Amino acid sequence: MGIMAGNPSGARHLPPRGKVSLRYENRKSRLRTYAVSRNVTRMEAWICPRYGPPEVLRLVDVPDPVPGRGEMVVRLRATSVHSGDSRVRGCRFPAGMGSAGRLALGWNGPRQAVLGTDGAGVVEALGPGVEAWRTGDEVLVVKGAAMGCHAERVLVKRGDVVVRKPESLGWAEAVSLPFGGQTARYFLTKAGLARDAEVLVIGASGAVGSAALQWISLLGARSIAVTRASNGEWVRRLGAAEVIDYTTTDYAGGARRFDGVMDCTGAGTFRT
Ligand SMILES: NC(=O)c1ccc[n+]([C@@H]2O[C@H](COP(=O)([O-])OP(=O)(O)OC[C@H]3O[C@@H](n4cnc5c(N)ncnc54)[C@H](OP(=O)(O)O)[C@@H]3O)[C@@H](O)[C@H]2O)c1
Repeated sequence: MGIMAGNPSGARHLPPRGKVSLRYENRKSRLRTYAVSRNVTRMEAWICPRYGPPEVLRLVDVPDPVPGRGEMVVRLRATSVHSGDSRVRGCRFPAGMGSAGRLALGWNGPRQAVLGTDGAGVVEALGPGVEAWRTGDEVLVVKGAAMGCHAERVLVKRGDVVVRKPESLGWAEAVSLPFGGQTARYFLTKAGLARDAEVLVIGASGAVGSAALQWISLLGARSIAVTRASNGEWVRRLGAAEVIDYTTTDYAGGARRFDGVMDCTGAGTFRT
């Protein structure tokens, strides 16, 4: 789901004299201190100091990013909070992957305390050597596992995905596309669906499922959405030809065959 980033008024300069320390609680409950000089601007960012429920998140001031060679700063107008962000914040990794996940992301809390994989905003500052973009360009940024988009500004580095924001989309609409859209597109392309294929989409109301319905429709195939009845009208607008309410119907146990099953929940078991 896309959400609009706060404080559209932009950077605020620190008080003109002396040094200021910005502090937040880190994952070991000690205070982490940033000493910043009087010329450094700062921004607001949501940080995740330790794994836990949404209440662990804190809105704090951190130094503004400064672009180095080949980098640029994007002032975000919208970011998203999706199932991936929620998994990282809550330390909910797939079964058997707990230790590997903690080793990769941080043992007691994420090493990259500012979560958020995707952002939409305006290019604000360019580092040396950036030719492809101009300040003022409206872009969509995908940081992926590097995260950092739950902030007023994000540093875009070489290798991060940046595309021009489609003019027809608002900020929140644009930023809601990459997470579910890229995943659905990747798997549906890999599946090589025939134009008349019939695909069961389980978890059709989620980020991946709702994108999948639209891709399947674009490919000319037919989707059957598995979701709650209350989502029926909405998923039909996204292209679902049929809706099955998983709270009342055993969609996996019957004799019906499908050309493809996209299970976005891990809820179903099927014979191939
Ligand atoms: N690169 C990656 O590795 C990658 C990228 C994207 C997503 N994912 C994974 O893909 C999965 C789906 O992601 P998402 O972002 O689409 O999640 P999501 O937005 O949370 O959507 C999941 C949907 O499943 C529905 N649901 C729950 N139980 C169900 C059941 N038994 N039958 C049918 N529907 C059910 C939920 O709706 P209701 O509860 O309201 O019915 C919800 O809308 C997650 O496990 C996520 O971690 C992985």
